[in-house]
Amino acid sequence: MSRLVALRDAGFEALAVLHAQAFDRPWSAAEIETMAAAHGAFGIAAMDGRALLGFILLRALAGEAEVLTIAVDPRRRREGLGRALIEAAAATAAIAGAEEIFLEVAEDNPAAIGLYEQAGYEPVGRRPGYYPRAGRAVDAILLRARLNSAPGVV
Ligand SMILES: CC(C)(COP(=O)(O)OP(=O)(O)OC[C@H]1O[C@@H](n2cnc3c(N)ncnc32)[C@H](O)[C@@H]1OP(=O)(O)O)[C@@H](O)C(=O)NCCC(=O)NCCS
Repeated sequence: MSRLVALRDAGFEALAVLHAQAFDRPWSAAEIETMAAAHGAFGIAAMDGRALLGFILLRALAGEAEVLTIAVDPRRRREGLGRALIEAAAATAAIAGAEEIFLEVAEDNPAAIGLYEQAGYEPVGRRPGYYPRAGRAVDAILLRARLNSAPGVV
């Protein structure tokens, strides 16, 4: 059983621990707190009791939102948590006035690409060699989803 809460309710130390489990380049609790406090930033966490299962952090400004990060506990993947987070984020971004959401994903990340495709994101660009990797750098694919921001329409 999981519930969605505001990001700050998850605790920034717990967010940093989960982020480190999901990414090669960890973000400290202080970095996440600073990003979450930036103008237009908002985040949503999935919790089971006091346990953090996943989170998403975005920034919405001037009609556009950007997903800064999304991560789900490796033990709880493929349960629909990522999808729940991205859908809740889209609804919140639309309420904040965003008409579209952008994000970047590494071309060698099939889980994230699958999640975004399922959520209706489409490729709109590519940044060659954006992600450093041992051996060779990997391209970032820039994805966009349009939001239906008409009041009362979901
Ligand atoms: C990407 C991530 C957030 C997905 O979270 P999740 O909770 O496992 O995703 P969901 O269970 O909601 O999956 C939704 C859909 O995404 C796709 N998907 C998820 N994991 C997948 C995988 N390993 N391979 C292929 N498709 C996958 C599927 O279409 C899935 O739907 P289905 O289960 O009905 O087939 C998770 O894998 C993660 O934290 N990865 C590490 C961090 C990361 O890469 N973040 C994205 C950076 S851009």
